[in-house]
Amino acid sequence: MSPIIGIRGVFFALLLATTGISQTSALASDSAKARDSAISIFEIVDRKSKIDPGSEEGQVLENVRGDIELRHISFRYPTRPDVPIFTNLSLSIPSGKVHMLCFSIP
Ligand SMILES: *[C@@H]1O[C@H](CO)[C@@H](O)[C@H](O)[C@H]1NC(C)=O
Repeated sequence: MSPIIGIRGVFFALLLATTGISQTSALASDSAKARDSAISIFEIVDRKSKIDPGSEEGQVLENVRGDIELRHISFRYPTRPDVPIFTNLSLSIPSGKVHMLCFSIP
């Protein structure tokens, strides 16, 4: 191997190593973000709800049919108390009708 090729080879190896290290650190950042996101998602999934949908306590009605009327409902998610979802919402849904609510969070 001539000294010229040797210097080129060292330079090329350094170039590849630098590129590899910079790409690895960029991936490490994304990996940390992905790990933090996964931890956050699992914390939400593992959180115990204050309302137990499987509870059989309380009065169970045999046959429920009727109009639904909401009067002056205000609602915020506990996780985002600064963002109102409903403010003073009133809504009537007659028996047998299907309604869909669509809203966007600012
Ligand atoms: C809610 O809306 C009603 C009218 O539908 C109004 O009289 C009342 O003042 C409102 N309440 C609040 C807290 O904005």
